[in-house]
Amino acid sequence: MACRVQHSIQNSIYFLSSTPLLNSFNPTTRSYFKNQISFSKKLFSSSSRTALYCTCSSSKSGNKDIFSSNGGDEFVLTTPLYYVNAPPHMGSAYTTIAADAIARFQRLLEKKVIFITGTDEHGEKIATAAATNGSSPSEHCDVVSQAYKALWKDLDISYDKFIRTTDPKHEAVVKEFYSRVLANGDIYRADYEGLYCVNCEEYKDEKDLLDNNCCPTHLKPCVRRKEDNYFFALSKYQQQLEEVLRQNPGFVQPSYRLNEVQGWIKSGLKDFSISRASVDWGIAVPNDSKQTIYVWFDALLGYVSALLEDNELASLETAISSGWPASLHLIGKDILRFHAVYWPAMLMSAGIGLPKMVFGHGFLTKDGMKMGKSLGNTLEPTDLVQRFGPDAVRYFFLREVEFGNDGDYSEERFIRIINAHLANTIGNLLNRTLGLLKKNCQSTLAVDSYVAAEGNKLKAAVEKLVEKARVHYQNLELSAACETVLEIGNAGNLYIDEQAPWTLFKQGEAAFETAAKDLVIILETMRIISIALSPITPGLSLRIYSQLGYTEEQFNAISWSDTKWGGLKAGQVMAQAMPIFARIEDGTEAETKSAETKKGSKKEKTPKSKSPVEA
Ligand code: MSP
Repeated sequence: MACRVQHSIQNSIYFLSSTPLLNSFNPTTRSYFKNQISFSKKLFSSSSRTALYCTCSSSKSGNKDIFSSNGGDEFVLTTPLYYVNAPPHMGSAYTTIAADAIARFQRLLEKKVIFITGTDEHGEKIATAAATNGSSPSEHCDVVSQAYKALWKDLDISYDKFIRTTDPKHEAVVKEFYSRVLANGDIYRADYEGLYCVNCEEYKDEKDLLDNNCCPTHLKPCVRRKEDNYFFALSKYQQQLEEVLRQNPGFVQPSYRLNEVQGWIKSGLKDFSISRASVDWGIAVPNDSKQTIYVWFDALLGYVSALLEDNELASLETAISSGWPASLHLIGKDILRFHAVYWPAMLMSAGIGLPKMVFGHGFLTKDGMKMGKSLGNTLEPTDLVQRFGPDAVRYFFLREVEFGNDGDYSEERFIRIINAHLANTIGNLLNRTLGLLKKNCQSTLAVDSYVAAEGNKLKAAVEKLVEKARVHYQNLELSAACETVLEIGNAGNLYIDEQAPWTLFKQGEAAFETAAKDLVIILETMRIISIALSPITPGLSLRIYSQLGYTEEQFNAISWSDTKWGGLKAGQVMAQAMPIFARIEDGTEAETKSAETKKGSKKEKTPKSKSPVEA
């Protein structure tokens, strides 16, 4: 049974706040954030005022166009900051791939995106991992953090900020935040005894544990700990959190996770310990160098400190005025409590606005168990990228796993899906069309795509589907977005088969003209596919765009509005046709992968794919 003996709160606060740092800070007069509502302590006693803290959408309209009411042109999104106890695995890569697709989509909408990721480097788990490897914690963190950066490069992750919790600017922000919360009367000292899961870095309720006090996520026994710690008065925020969620049901997504969060809050919030006496590898508690700040109380602040420029004064105020509040925290469902309960309460205590949304996705599983470093049942993302290329990996996981739910990996299914969707439906359609254009029209478009498609049924279908894809992206329905773009590809394939331009080209002048127009219509369809799929498969999309005769610079300048029909113009000359996506030959993936050129790499080779169909 966990038990806590609370020292006198007054005494602790007096003890802690008798310092120059805290004395210079007056909690009743803070009103200096650009992005927050100023507050006085009085606000905390009034539940009706709690919504003031929430910058999230107040729409109660369920899951439709979930960011549409934000209005602003900034979009700040975050991945969790990954523990550096071990190198990344496919589970950690999954959150980042999804975040990257969302960031790229928001950039297409011409939002000013700040995409934040990084590494969580303090705490017992990391110190133990370093010791096991025979390194110092800081050397260990440098190596593993670098492995994350390298993987993000391999996976074409377009992050804007990479924050490490060992960065001095982060440490300064954490200390300032701690001091604010303390000054607000929300930190006290107490003894604690309970069962601790080192892998979760969390004290557990005995009732939530398996036999032998095993953690249900990590299947390892929790250890009994007794410590004299500082506590955060989470219980004080119970009513305000309830109110925030009542007024902003969109704060937690998908909607079915909201019930879980509401359940936790309803069952009664307990104060939690935010310092560790037994852990050296961490940020020292201001004015008590014998304790370090609890790794979660430290790492969550990374979302704020990441906003600071390297040469900027490391203060909370500067960080907050540089983009806070975040539009979206993308996380796995295992860390929902920290993000949807602890974090908002911490922010309220410090008088900082709340993020707009926390989205908890599901797990990648292997044999039904969460894939993870602690269980050792991971899938190597670097290996997958080397064998199949970044676009295949990104596409497979985003298409295959309905965002929010769990999904199991199978290599057989991976190969089947990638071959069918990317190599056949998209790659082959482009290749055969370009082949026909080269043979019959010197690779040059005969007419504007707008003119070619007047009253055309494929154009009508594409317009409808591309709008549908936009709505799916907007609602973070990434799998449905992929599926819808593929439907455009299917419609294009159906059209070319029905029209059979290869036959028309042989049937005299009028039929030749129709065939030439049909090719323009299909290539315009491909252009739109390339843009609409670019959040998911940026490398593949660039290759499609290049084949259509555009430069990389032109590709980098596209926006979602370019999905409007009519981009390709008469006279545009297509590039030399070559397969844009190699079919994976079962068993010989390692050889075929090299055909999928990475953006900027010179490794392009002719794939061992089936030669393009030129009917
Ligand atoms: N360090 C904390 C996060 C602090 S954020 C301020 C942490 N790190 S973690 O490395 O353990 O996990 C990071 C993310 O990876 C979490 O969102 C977690 O859900 C996700 N995943 C880890 N394994 C996963 C799967 N098998 N499948 C999908 N995502 C999973 O928690």
